Amino acid sequence: MKLLILLSCFFGISSCLEEFIKWNQIEYENLPETGNFPFIQYNNVPQGFAPYKDKIFIAVPRRNHGIPSTLNYVKLEHGKDVYTNPKLQSYPNYETNELDPSNQANPNRIISVYRPRVDECDRLWFVDSGVINTSGNLSIIQRPSIWVFDLKTDQLVKRFEIPENVVRDGLGLASITVDVIDCNGNSFAYIPDLLNSQMIIYNLQDDKAYRMQHNYFRMNPFEGDFDVDGLQFSWDDGIFSITLSNIDNDGYRTAYFHPMSSFSEFAVSTSVLRNETLASRGYHGNDVKLVGNRGKNTQSTMHSFHAATGVVYYAQINKNAVSCWNSNRELKSTNFKEVVRDDVKLIYPSDLKVSGDDLYVMSNRMIRHIYSKLDTNDFNFRIFKISIKDARCSATQTRRRKFRN
Ligand SMILES: *[C@@H]1O[C@H](CO)[C@@H](O)[C@H](O)[C@H]1NC(C)=O
Ligand SMILES: *[C@@H]1O[C@H](CO)[C@@H](O)[C@H](O)[C@H]1NC(C)=O
Ligand SMILES: *[C@@H]1O[C@H](CO)[C@@H](O)[C@H](O)[C@H]1NC(C)=O
Repeated sequence: MKLLILLSCFFGISSCLEEFIKWNQIEYENLPETGNFPFIQYNNVPQGFAPYKDKIFIAVPRRNHGIPSTLNYVKLEHGKDVYTNPKLQSYPNYETNELDPSNQANPNRIISVYRPRVDECDRLWFVDSGVINTSGNLSIIQRPSIWVFDLKTDQLVKRFEIPENVVRDGLGLASITVDVIDCNGNSFAYIPDLLNSQMIIYNLQDDKAYRMQHNYFRMNPFEGDFDVDGLQFSWDDGIFSITLSNIDNDGYRTAYFHPMSSFSEFAVSTSVLRNETLASRGYHGNDVKLVGNRGKNTQSTMHSFHAATGVVYYAQINKNAVSCWNSNRELKSTNFKEVVRDDVKLIYPSDLKVSGDDLYVMSNRMIRHIYSKLDTNDFNFRIFKISIKDARCSATQTRRRKFRN
């Protein structure tokens, strides 16, 4: 039986996808009876998550009216591995998430979060875009900011406002990748800006941000058409996801990245990203490289590197799938494998993260929410959890690269 399940995983049959959490609609725990704005349940669409011990953080960006709290978590219970409609709890509390009644800028409040991340120093990182997007009506409330919480104490250890000479506003800041050098304050964060096709780099030690620009951060105009769930649309999102390799021989990591509207994968060394002079120069020589083309219709939201195997997992929006590439091999379509596909449960895989030896994927049917209508009696939002050993990229995987102990 175990073998059968494993084999069905290799052939991409949905039975190996373990539904970890599923929701028809989002509900919150402990909402005040009268908030500053009314709760409109239908508009609450989760986009990102971050697992940490007995919590899983869930972000509901303010892409619409009626979202009471953008940064939340679900408390996990020991031994329980299926959750149906668990309520979200605000993090760190409701007050920090509540909108100001007059939409004033307020550094003590979080406006909108997409995809938080937890690093190996027990810290939660996320970008507050500072923007409310209500059905295309953009309200820029405040400067975009980077937040860091110490999860051992739930204390805010850093809030950094990204200055205007780095980015005009936070509209395109939908994810963050943390590069930890040590847990004593030496870390970098890399933030893709999907609207301005640039990368924002934050140096925690120097408490300073700068940006890198490069043409490879842009979408490919021939690869921006989508056909999902019977809906056709064109998107022009640039650089969307950054994931880091293990430490290479030179002491730096490789940052793999892709624009969303693109079939290609690119790479740049963190030795370039961490050095402001190198990152911000106008001409980059061969700093940034094309890694390869993944094949037709392989547009991806998030991707994530598994340290022990060197395999990179991809959330595939144009295929309702999760795919993988063993980074020890050449990246081409024949080395880009489908792990699982599901045309019902995996519509718009909005976030994906390897955490330890588990792969987590969130899907949220956002395409239906934007271009059609969600059936609120159906399960619409899901988080899957798959053990990496059940999501192996290839049975004959070679491990040429040496990994850090
Ligand atoms: C704002 O929301 C609209 C409608 O959901 C969407 O099409 C657009 O891409 C959003 N803009 C940004 C910058 O997120
Ligand atoms: C657009 O945003 C402005 C500023 O917050 C607000 O006054 C207005 O009512 C909004 N319009 C819609 C259609 O949401
Ligand atoms: C950054 O790169 C420049 C150009 O190669 C080099 O001169 C400088 O020493 C580097 N800075 C750091 C802090 O490594």
